[in-house]
Amino acid sequence: MRLDRFLSEMGVGTRREIREWCRRGTVTVNGITVRQAETAVSPETDAVCVDGTPIIYAAQEYYMLNKPAGVVTAVTDAREKTVLDLLPTPRRKDLFPVGRLDKDTEGLLLITNDGPLCQSLLSPRHHVEKTYFARIRGRVTPEHVEQFRLGFNIGDGKLTQPAGLVILRAGEESEVQVTITEGRYHQVKRMFAAFGYRVLYLKRLSMGPLQLDPDLAVGAYRKCTPEEISDLKQHSGSSKSF
Ligand code: URA
Repeated sequence: MRLDRFLSEMGVGTRREIREWCRRGTVTVNGITVRQAETAVSPETDAVCVDGTPIIYAAQEYYMLNKPAGVVTAVTDAREKTVLDLLPTPRRKDLFPVGRLDKDTEGLLLITNDGPLCQSLLSPRHHVEKTYFARIRGRVTPEHVEQFRLGFNIGDGKLTQPAGLVILRAGEESEVQVTITEGRYHQVKRMFAAFGYRVLYLKRLSMGPLQLDPDLAVGAYRKCTPEEISDLKQHSGSSKSF
């Protein structure tokens, strides 16, 4: 891999900055100053340093973001701020969000460059559970809980998979926790809309084994821990019956 690609993928700097650092002689490979940014390096075995700081190659990166409302779940967007814009710059170029939260939805979003993990988490075959907290206009009742368990039509003629609904507070406005194993477009909002109810606030709390860190402020991110990454990789899908 080219040295400038390696360093820019690791988010150390832009390619232009890296060329400049090479010219200035602050980049070393195995202790030898390298002035050509195009020099080939072996990311796993060569010791690359910038200003004496070792740059360790991480093939994959995993970030937990507490998505705020008002940003779109996309890599780039011509007009809107995206979830990737909330990560620090410079950052590696191959990151993407796993799945999608609506612009007005908050909460847990995994951002990674691990394509196979993303596919596995989103695969309909794996039934990965996603749990949301929701505030609903309308009184949510045990009958709704039963309907969520059985499945119902949300407007496209296809029944929903069994879903969990826990009533936290019932009133003119209700607070609930919803667990679904699908990822249909606007799914939670459409599930309540099927009963004539509007979702006033929606926040994702978990995805498979990954739980939103309660210490992560809205709009903040952190790297996933090795345990979280290993749990995500080992997840075997849900076998929960609601
Ligand atoms: N369901 C929705 O309706 N919106 C989301 O953002 C996620 C699930």
